[in-house]
Amino acid sequence: MSDVKLYSGETLPLEMHKVRIVQKLNLIPIEQRYAAITAAGNNTFLLKNRDVFLDMLTDSGVNAMSDQQQAAMMIADDSYAGSETFYRLEAKIEELFGMPYFLPAHQGRACESIIAQVFVRPETIVPTNYHFTTTKAHITLNGGTVEEIFCDDALEVTSDKPFKGDIDLAKLQTLIERHGAGKIAFLRIEAGTNLIGGQPVSLANMRAVSEVCRAHDILFVLDASLLADNLYFNKTREAACRDMDLRRITREIAGLCDLIYFSARKLGCARGGGICMHREDLYKQIRDKIVLYEGFLTYGGMSVREIEAIRVGLDETMDMDMISQGPQFIRFMVEEMAARGIPAITPPGGLGAHIDARAFLSHLSQAEYPAGALAAALYLVSGVRGMERGTLSEQRHPDGSERFADMELLRLALPRRVFTMSQVKYAVDRIAWLYEHRTLVGGLRFTEEPSVLRFFFGRLTPTSAWQEALIERFRVDLGDSL
Ligand code: F0G
Repeated sequence: MSDVKLYSGETLPLEMHKVRIVQKLNLIPIEQRYAAITAAGNNTFLLKNRDVFLDMLTDSGVNAMSDQQQAAMMIADDSYAGSETFYRLEAKIEELFGMPYFLPAHQGRACESIIAQVFVRPETIVPTNYHFTTTKAHITLNGGTVEEIFCDDALEVTSDKPFKGDIDLAKLQTLIERHGAGKIAFLRIEAGTNLIGGQPVSLANMRAVSEVCRAHDILFVLDASLLADNLYFNKTREAACRDMDLRRITREIAGLCDLIYFSARKLGCARGGGICMHREDLYKQIRDKIVLYEGFLTYGGMSVREIEAIRVGLDETMDMDMISQGPQFIRFMVEEMAARGIPAITPPGGLGAHIDARAFLSHLSQAEYPAGALAAALYLVSGVRGMERGTLSEQRHPDGSERFADMELLRLALPRRVFTMSQVKYAVDRIAWLYEHRTLVGGLRFTEEPSVLRFFFGRLTPTSAWQEALIERFRVDLGDSL
């Protein structure tokens, strides 16, 4: 895409695909949106799709599939054991990652649960560039502790650091000296670091981390769910990768890891997951758990149709046109917001655009859940559904006190090849309107608070009548617009 130069000088993320299957959308009036978000306990996870206009909740399982993926689904080989479809995926994994051992699972968190059950023991530590919600929950459930060893500037909202997902090598050394390598269950790097704004990890950093792991006999695990975005940034931001094709970068990364797992709801644009390994001993250690919790070794809880779609999707991930669409649309959205003074994470990463809710709603304290309040407010004024990635997504300390998140983000995911440019412009326009009227937005408090992963099902209520005030202002400024 970057090779197309426009006469006007404008940079435009030009789509290298055409849309031939579409789904009708609804945009209901603001008063109905108010009723919907109230019924959902101000939690965007609990909204019904029929009430949502642009679903920017996540990129998980909702990326657009290609015609080739759809076609492959028609030739899937259904059988409990020995499916040809499975062997085709296994061969593709070996071709791309150079890893001959592959275990299927129904999605990313299933891989996490199994990896944690096999390798995490009470009192062990899992150092990581940054945790993901489900990863941390599984490690903690098995008695382990997550230690984040990101670089000091990883959490700076506005930055020009190209690889904010890198591990701080000095912190890794200190951690090993303090606890001893024996206490480390495994080291985990998350490609395209989700919770800090889809920020990538450099190949150079992975190489250095791998050397340390090998020297201390520490298992190196890569969460490759967001590898497609990470590869795009390796290729475009890392000088050493500029002349490598995507297959080569992928092979280099995989060569550094002992174990790669992924959610195929993200990587490969289908629905499923799996664990890939170089070593037979690791495969044998993990295998039994797949059969117990997921399904037989040749489907692992997935439909064979999805397995075919994953195989083709992984192959298509090696195409720069394909993996550019997400990051380039995200950059467009972030730059449009920046031009209007809206605080968002920079440099733009993968997965989606991330608004800094603390700066957007600087009059709210973290105890009033600014990112959650912003998610509810944005849905109200636009029908756009984003996801809170802040304090609500954290779990309370064992003593019941609130664990305030490092960052209060409203994530607006851009599922790959799903939205059009005018839809992105609409979202930016409504965000800009909300920013103009941000002082009207108040906080939220829990009315129902689950003890684990509370952001999924928790219900909240506004701390004042701020939503009514927003609706009133919307009608003044935008008349009877939807
Ligand atoms: N790892 C990362 C980096 C993820 O982003 C996710 C899911 C998982 C693991 C778990 O995979 O959903 O297939 O079980 N992220 C989704 C999101 C849920 O919305 O960011 P899963």
